[in-house]
Parts: sequence; structure tokens; C-alpha cells
Amino acid sequence: MSSKMDPIAEFREDHRKVRDGILSITEALRAKDVKKAREILGELNTMVGPHFRYEEEVLYPALRKFLGEYVDQLIREHDNVVGTAKVCAGLLAKDTLNDKESEDASQAAMQLLIHVSNCDGLAILSERFNQKEMDNLADKFADARKAGVPLLEWAETIRKTYVR
Ligand SMILES: [Fe+2]
Repeated sequence: MSSKMDPIAEFREDHRKVRDGILSITEALRAKDVKKAREILGELNTMVGPHFRYEEEVLYPALRKFLGEYVDQLIREHDNVVGTAKVCAGLLAKDTLNDKESEDASQAAMQLLIHVSNCDGLAILSERFNQKEMDNLADKFADARKAGVPLLEWAETIRKTYVR
């Protein structure tokens, strides 16, 4: 029995937190509470940085044996998610939003929600990794969390050294 974290359970638990955060952002926008929406987005930015980093550095390369070139598409999808998160953060940096801005921020949040739903599907494939692969995923996921680089910071620095 390993004392390591369960990388699939943690992966899915992150998705639940992001799902709930995004839905709370949408609710806050509906209530015109931009400050609250901004706070939640800030928490998500901190939380998903390590998650994305783990996916791109460890999980996606490991999934290549099941998914082949589709993995490259997953990376491109992350490009879009990072771009959308930036748009969302830019909008929520304001203290008040007009109807159009609020609608744009809600649309951005929905795009992020769709990504969460897609990403969680990778768990069903991850279940087929052997114990050695699973242990490696657990170690690397823990490393990414320990490093704790927020999403937008990671995208502007570390990610740029190997994507594009
Ligand atoms: Fe994910």
C-alpha cells in the first residue's frame, strides 16, 4: 500500500473545485458582485497553476501512449484556456461592469467550465496506468503543487520555455 497521494482522485477533486468556483463566479456576476467574482478567480488562478503544469509536463506526455497526437490538441486547448482566463481577469479587474462586459465575463467563465468537463474525461484513461506510472504521476503532481506557481504567472514564464 503506497502512502502517496492518489493522482486521479486529486485530479478530479481539483476539477470539482474549479467547477464550483466557476459557477460561483457566474452567480456573482449575475448579482453584480464583481469583487467577489474577482476573488474567486484569484483563488482559481492559484489552484489551477500547478494542475495545468502537472498536466502539460507529466500527464499529457504519459497519455500519449493512449491518445497519440491528440495530446497536441490538448496543449492547444490550454492555450485557449489561458487566453480566456486572461480576458476574464482583465474584465474582473474593473470595479463595475456594464452589461456587455458582464456578459463577456460570463461567456469566458462558461468556456472555462467546458474545459473542466473535457479535462475530467482524461481520468478514465489515467486509470489504465500501471503502478509505477501512477507513482510517478503522484510524485510529480505533488511537486507541482509544492512549487505553487499560479496559472497566469506560469503561462507567462515557465510555460513559454517549452510551448511554442
Ligand atoms: Fe485538468
